[in-house]
Formats: sequence, C-alpha cells, structure tokens
Amino acid sequence: MTQDELKQAVARAAKDYVAANLPAGGILGVGTGSTANFFIDELAAIKDRIGGTIASSEATKKRLEGHGIRVLDLNDITGMSIYVDGADEIDAGFAMVKGGGGALTREKIVAAVAQTFVCICDGSKLVKTMGKFPLPVEVIPMARAYVARELEKLGGQPKLREGFTTDNGNVILDVHGLSITDPVGLETKLNQIVGVVTNGLFAARGADVLLLGTAEGVKTSTR
Ligand code: 5RP
Repeated sequence: MTQDELKQAVARAAKDYVAANLPAGGILGVGTGSTANFFIDELAAIKDRIGGTIASSEATKKRLEGHGIRVLDLNDITGMSIYVDGADEIDAGFAMVKGGGGALTREKIVAAVAQTFVCICDGSKLVKTMGKFPLPVEVIPMARAYVARELEKLGGQPKLREGFTTDNGNVILDVHGLSITDPVGLETKLNQIVGVVTNGLFAARGADVLLLGTAEGVKTSTR
C-alpha cells in the first residue's frame, strides 16, 4: 500500500469513529495536513450528524466549507467532544510532534478544548524517540534570532521555514537534531522562551486514541 492509501484508510476509520462516538449535533475539531484532508473528504458523508466543526487552520476551514460542512468560531462554543488530526511523529506514550503544515498553534488550542484527541496517521509516524522530524516552533517575527540562539543552547539546530507565514502572522523555526527523550520537559522549557508562541510538542496534552494505518489494516489503540 502507498502512504496515501494508508492515510485514506485511516481517514475512513476516523469517519467511522466519529459516526460512532460523536453525540448527535456534537462539535468536532478538525486538523490540518494531508491526512486531515482525506478525513475532511470522508466527513462529507456524515455532515448531517455534526452540529458544527472547529477548523485548526484557514486551509481546513476552506476545505470543510467546500463540502458544505458548517465551521464555527471557537469563541462561540463551550465544549468539543472529539478532535481528529494527524501528526508528524507519535511515540508509545501518545506524545506527538506536530506542525509540519505550520498550523501548530491553532491545533494546540483546539486540542486543549477537545475532550478526546484522535490522532490519525500512517505507520511511519510511530517512532520510539521523537526528534528525527524537525520540531516546528512558531515565533513572533521580531524574536526570531533571539529564539534561534536559545534553541541552540538546548542542543537543536533551528532553521527558518523560508517563505512561510503562519495563519497568525508569525514565522516558524524548524529545529533539527533533537532527540526527544523527555517530551513533557522539553515542551515546558520551550514554552518558557520569550517570543515563542507555540512549540510543536504535544506532550502535556497528547492524543487519547491512535488510529494507525498499516499494511495489515487500521490499528486502534487507546491511552
Ligand atoms: C499540521 C500538522 C499535521 O497534522 C502534520 O504535519 C501531519 O501532516 P500529514 O498528515 O500531511 O502527514 O501538524 O500542522
């Protein structure tokens, strides 16, 4: 199976998960990226069961609306049952590296509100130790050089994501060369650097459910 076929299979499984677990008229958070895009396309089939969605990026909002799926403002809701999103890496404890698509800040906000975070990815994303995928860090533009120096002190090699501005008007430093043995500790340290808006470690609030696409089928695990 190709990676896209695995993503497609996992997207279908996520649609089935939502159909079975989202209370009628419930609010669904929707992630960003190629796996999330497959999921959005699947979601169209059950859109009448969904009270509304919260989009984690402008791109996701556009795709949802393209299918006639209602997108709400996060400030107008008081709770969200399920959030479905991909990941760049996930470890056995369901901590994740996210932000390859640059949507990490809004994704982390949606994840914070959701009762259940369902991570959808193909088998290549499950790793023993995270860090091979460069860790995205969203930074206020004027703090870019300062934050880069601080990231170097933590042992990383930050590289500016050229020609990219986030939905929030900020820049991204992709941090290479990290071996993330203490995801919660590193997430906390990165949050303390002034000028960092969000870091792509989703460890303090990791996933609750993992739908993993493999050649043997989609495997479901719960934390
Ligand atoms: C976007 C993300 C995505 O979930 C992550 O990059 C995975 O993307 P894909 O499904 O395309 O592999 O965090 O900011």
